[in-house]
Amino acid sequence: MEIAKFDSVDKTRFNNVTWVAEIPSTNTALLERARSGGQEGEVIIADLQTQGRGRRGREWIAPAGTSLMMSMLLRPPSDALSPSNASLATSALALSARTAILELTNVNLEIKWPNDLVIDTPVDQLLDADLGYRKVAGILTETLISNAVIEALVIGIGLNTGWGEVPPELQSVATSLDVLTKSEIDRNALGFKILQNFETEYAALLAPNGSQQVLHEVKKHSNTLGKRVQVHMDVTANTQIIRGLAVDLDECGRLIVETGDNDSQIITMGDVEHLRLDTR
Ligand code: BTN
Repeated sequence: MEIAKFDSVDKTRFNNVTWVAEIPSTNTALLERARSGGQEGEVIIADLQTQGRGRRGREWIAPAGTSLMMSMLLRPPSDALSPSNASLATSALALSARTAILELTNVNLEIKWPNDLVIDTPVDQLLDADLGYRKVAGILTETLISNAVIEALVIGIGLNTGWGEVPPELQSVATSLDVLTKSEIDRNALGFKILQNFETEYAALLAPNGSQQVLHEVKKHSNTLGKRVQVHMDVTANTQIIRGLAVDLDECGRLIVETGDNDSQIITMGDVEHLRLDTR
């Protein structure tokens, strides 16, 4: 049985939680709220999104009730977060969700750059064309920026909690917490715990030197650093592909990839594929 739906989370800024059965997209709805004066701390949680959105213009599709789909509205102070390091707030949410999942389900996920939560696939379960990890959650952060200052930040997470069975076409790339634990997952409890943890992580991020702490934690739980990677980047109308070794994150959370001969590239945005040993 799930814990009851809550309308606020004590001792946090999340004091206005709205639950909806169906909505086009929780991120889109909060962006509209942000444009019309919505306050920091508004949260929307949906059972079903009809136009769910993922990173880089992709769709985010999940049947009703199978995922925790939750977005938050933030209005960060301009001296703490700027358009160039706003992705650290996404990382703070990835860390918060990772800890909440570990605390409530004992599943230990890692962070695939930039902010996917993934689990390594056991060797005996590898399928053809398997990349060696399965995605459990994704995060989409969107900003309203005016005069190079962030007016609002909307961060949304889609977390696979109750798929029952992963559809065959997704089995090599995604999984769900109920599949991993072989038990029912309490979505409401997870949402509550994520918001509690996020308050701590986000407040720490806004404090002086807060980004160092977030970066330290993200590096500790990164599933990308130390791997050979192939990065698909949008460059004007084309996709550019680079290959190399993911060696570090810079102070804004961008990925540093060594491409060989003492050369490296800093990746701001893109899709990263971890290369399997046999293709490295
Ligand atoms: C990704 O991995 O591409 C990011 C997926 C983010 C999905 C969530 S679900 C809640 C929120 N509303 C959306 O439309 N997208 C995000």
